[in-house]
Amino acid sequence: MFVMSGLHLPVMKDEVVRFLDPKSGEDFVDCTVGLGGHALAVLEWTRPSGRVLGLDVDPVILERLKEKVEGTEYEERLILACGNFANLGEIVNRFAFGRVSGVLFDLGLSSWHLEESGRGFSFLRNEPLDMRYSSENPLTAEFIVNFWSLRDIEGILRVYGQERFARRIAEEIVRSRPLRTTVDLVMAVERATPSWYHRGRIHFATKTFQALRIAVNNELENLERALPQALDVLDEGGRLIVISFHSLEDHIVKNFLREKAKEGVVKILTKKPVRPSEKEVKENPRARSARLRAALKL
Ligand SMILES: C[S@@+](CC[C@H](N)C(=O)[O-])C[C@H]1O[C@@H](n2cnc3c(N)ncnc32)[C@H](O)[C@@H]1O
Repeated sequence: MFVMSGLHLPVMKDEVVRFLDPKSGEDFVDCTVGLGGHALAVLEWTRPSGRVLGLDVDPVILERLKEKVEGTEYEERLILACGNFANLGEIVNRFAFGRVSGVLFDLGLSSWHLEESGRGFSFLRNEPLDMRYSSENPLTAEFIVNFWSLRDIEGILRVYGQERFARRIAEEIVRSRPLRTTVDLVMAVERATPSWYHRGRIHFATKTFQALRIAVNNELENLERALPQALDVLDEGGRLIVISFHSLEDHIVKNFLREKAKEGVVKILTKKPVRPSEKEVKENPRARSARLRAALKL
């Protein structure tokens, strides 16, 4: 039996299984396989022959997952692919997966990225300002803070971070150049914002870090490109499940599903986004902002 480390609990696992409704022999695509929490739960239900194509843009996390499943009963049925879900259709074709019974997105970064990758995703660590899921991505957070214009930095802080002090933070970032580490950035945000902001419910650098991560990894555009391809690879009666962690992602998913429901292509299974239980949030604070939406392809 595969044992997940306490740090890497998959978010809303029971709800994912309920909405995907996996059955023996069916095939699924997990577009954000990470350390495999959801994929392995699905494989439990699809014994003996059902497969999961597990996609991740980060080759390092895929390597970790590969090591974890080696020698387990899941090894043969979990097919791992390194790539961006923005190219989902092409990747699914390359692996000759045909039409699948479900496609899952669990968006954003994993707790492994925050805690173990060393790439500057966390404002609680002192690491280089990288924030890339893949080293093939030419854009880093360090490049943005040191070379983008004040106006462009303010723009991403305002739009992707929904940061009320976007202007002041952008000004302080430009004034503080060069910034090399997460601590340099946290200190710039601290200098730019009033002291009451430092005592808030969420850490004062949360939104700045979120904005940079979204910009570095082109997260919203990738999602917009992936969703229509996810519907294409689904079989009739197949399910699309998306877990998002902030309102911009959730808006994209909501609008996409509404449009497709109007066209008669899908039936929406979640009128409102499904939220994690209080118990789950207590056990896994990362689940706090999760919202799950699901639809059935007609
Ligand atoms: C929230 S984690 C997934 C965790 C996973 N469900 C689990 O249970 O372990 C999201 C994963 O998506 C990956 N990712 C982010 N953007 C991606 C993209 N555009 N294409 C493919 N994978 C992506 C990240 O590298 C990360 O490993």
